[in-house]
Amino acid sequence: MPEKPQPKKILVIHGPNLNMLGQREPDIYGRESLADIDTKLKTRGAGFGLEVESFQSNHEGAIVDKIQQVMGSCQGIIINPAAYTHTSVAIRDALGMLDVPVIEIHLSNIHKREPFRHRSMIADIVVARIAGFGAHGYLLALEGLAQII
Ligand code: DQA
Repeated sequence: MPEKPQPKKILVIHGPNLNMLGQREPDIYGRESLADIDTKLKTRGAGFGLEVESFQSNHEGAIVDKIQQVMGSCQGIIINPAAYTHTSVAIRDALGMLDVPVIEIHLSNIHKREPFRHRSMIADIVVARIAGFGAHGYLLALEGLAQII
């Protein structure tokens, strides 16, 4: 009997303070909780035949560890590095080791905000970037990723 094809795996990474979504500056980041977003991603992913795993950490090294762990076992990454977007060479280098598409997403339009948020350490190594659609941006990122993998 031929083996059942395994669903493709997508890892969604949420950086620091995104565990506080819903309570954190809702005028900027919206009122949806991270759990709500992750549930929607799982459901929508299943519709595309994708298995979506979500991971959040407030710690740079933990994010690097997670990226290293999924090397070879996931087919795409969606990442909101949050504040580490603007500072982390370590996360950039970890993503740079992967040979799967990476999508960068931000809830807010970082280019409309303070100048220090305009720089992204990963902008030039990702396939695509989404910013300013709030929580809906995650679903747009998933749809885009589903098209290319
Ligand atoms: C963010 C934007 C970052 O500048 C900020 O530090 C965040 C969230 C966003 O999703 O809009 O924590 O990545």
